[in-house]
Amino acid sequence: MMQEKFWDIKIVNREERLGSRMEILRAEHVSYSYQSKYQKVDAVKDVSCSFERGKFYAIVGESGSGKSTFLSLLAGLDNPDEGTIFVQGEPLNEMDRDAYRLNRAAVVYQAFHLFPLLTAQENVMLPMEFKKMRRKDAAKQARTLLNRVGLEDRIVRQYPRMMSGGEQQRVAIARAVASGGEIILADEPTGNLDSENEAKVVFLLKELAHKDGYTVIVITHNQRVAEETDHVFRMRDGRMEQAR
Ligand SMILES: Nc1ncnc2c1ncn2[C@@H]1O[C@H](COP(=O)(O)OP(=O)(O)OP(=O)(O)O)[C@@H](O)[C@H]1O
Ligand SMILES: [Mg+2]
Repeated sequence: MMQEKFWDIKIVNREERLGSRMEILRAEHVSYSYQSKYQKVDAVKDVSCSFERGKFYAIVGESGSGKSTFLSLLAGLDNPDEGTIFVQGEPLNEMDRDAYRLNRAAVVYQAFHLFPLLTAQENVMLPMEFKKMRRKDAAKQARTLLNRVGLEDRIVRQYPRMMSGGEQQRVAIARAVASGGEIILADEPTGNLDSENEAKVVFLLKELAHKDGYTVIVITHNQRVAEETDHVFRMRDGRMEQAR
């Protein structure tokens, strides 16, 4: 069945994920400005960089340096004013960006953004149900995924308000993985977590990159988190440099 196959490829078969070209995302001379009535803010200025499959990246930099704006460009939530984002060589602005976010790139936020009226399992089922997976299959996959991110069956039927921050963030990551993409973009995913939960989430993201072949890009203010990644990019006043 299609769904089973999609599952195998995404989680089990790392070789397949890593099989094609190593570079998955590339920004070329990307700029973006916010234009309000009274002023223009150049948030991202002529940024060029590239990201490979199966690697874990950090983007660091001071508040207001353009990190979230750049991530939203990588996620296809906005279009660059200048320059191009390429996804495996294909310009993102020529792709169906909603399909890109549904099928290939999932975004994880600091505030988790779980649906409060849905259980952990139902939250994780959502992207699979969007793709018309049968509810029963989606429920089963969701449970497997929640176990995979280290959440026991007890959590599966709980609502977000009954979970700790770390548990909620792991549900959010399970949901990102459930969309079956190959890119995980996370804006301060450990920003609301204590150090124990931070370590769990970082371990999980690292494993998704190194074991499952995801490309994981996290924005972080946290030196401990950055140290766990393969490469660090630093943004300064809209510009990007590779720090490590
Ligand atoms: N919707 C918006 N309208 C106007 N200006 C904005 C908007 N969002 C962000 N900016 C401005 O763009 C610049 C970059 O913001 P951005 O949110 O990308 O920074 P950041 O590096 O993510 O900061 P932080 O670490 O505080 O999250 C800042 O000067 C900010 O004030
Ligand atoms: Mg930000």
